[in-house]
Amino acid sequence: MEVKEPLFEYVSPHITTDVVCGESKSILKNIDDEKFDLIITSPPYNIGKSYEVKQSIEQYLGTQKEIISELVRVLSRQGSICWQVGNYVDKGEVFPLDIYYYQIFKTLGLRLRNRIIWHFGHGLHASNRFSGRYETILWFTKSDEYIFNLDNVRVPSKYPGKLHFKGDKKGLPSGNPLGKNPSDIWEIVAQDWENELWNIPNVKSNHPEKTEHPCQFPVELVERCVLALTNTKSWVLDPFAGVGSTLLAALKNERHSMGIEKESNYCAIAEQRIKDLKDGRLKIRPINKPIHIPSANDKVAKIPGEWKSENGLKPNTLFEI
Ligand SMILES: C[S@@+](CC[C@H](N)C(=O)[O-])C[C@H]1O[C@@H](n2cnc3c(N)ncnc32)[C@H](O)[C@@H]1O
Repeated sequence: MEVKEPLFEYVSPHITTDVVCGESKSILKNIDDEKFDLIITSPPYNIGKSYEVKQSIEQYLGTQKEIISELVRVLSRQGSICWQVGNYVDKGEVFPLDIYYYQIFKTLGLRLRNRIIWHFGHGLHASNRFSGRYETILWFTKSDEYIFNLDNVRVPSKYPGKLHFKGDKKGLPSGNPLGKNPSDIWEIVAQDWENELWNIPNVKSNHPEKTEHPCQFPVELVERCVLALTNTKSWVLDPFAGVGSTLLAALKNERHSMGIEKESNYCAIAEQRIKDLKDGRLKIRPINKPIHIPSANDKVAKIPGEWKSENGLKPNTLFEI
């Protein structure tokens, strides 16, 4: 009897996963036309993170446009680009980057299929405006004949027992047995390590994928795009690969991938994570795992003693509940 190595049911040894350390613009020049079915990335936001030099928004978008032109060239006819961005903020003024990027992609002939809202429950608290709790993913295709495997990413229906109430199908289940379309609002746990829950004991939502990179993708966010927008053995590219989250999502789902990253320390972490995944040692939050909601008895869900007045709660805390 052939003994199957369980790991190879999870990570196929026949899949290529390349981390290329260098500048996207020059590396892309040497890649064949139409190689990739999916290009997914979170580009630098030009907000002065450790790996970027802040430029004027015009300069920043000019450089990005040159890279995006190359990306369109290396995208297959049935392929998709998923561009995940938040806001650029200058002296308190918010510039929603997806609005600027939309113009660039549109000029290059791509077609928008969804503007996905990636909503997360936690983050920094703003004091001069409302706290930001979402970023967007612009999903573009190169043509009208694009890969879209909806069944791969359906989510459980809220009311699977719902029935047709009239017509030929009256009395029969009205939903899809594989689940419902996940919609264009995604509740995928963000970087909980950056939020106020990080140091509080008993809160189980600290994210298992944390590395030293300041803004990693959750692997499950990329997985949804990989599963829906590519086929097995498709090629996936991340031109700003960071610590390789896109490559992990591709490898885990039997897709070839390439990630380009200019910082050698992030390339090294990406290589290590890929190795750890192959060795079955990498901690990844499973796709579609429900988000942790603290119970009323969790310490973190209780109103701090300092906020209670002699007569009960201060008025504003009532609204916090
Ligand atoms: C927002 S982060 C991406 C993080 C990534 N999604 C992950 O999960 O780790 C953007 C990354 O792009 C890299 N980067 C910025 N400009 C680059 C360029 N011109 N070529 C290659 N990488 C670049 C940065 O070093 C940074 O790691």
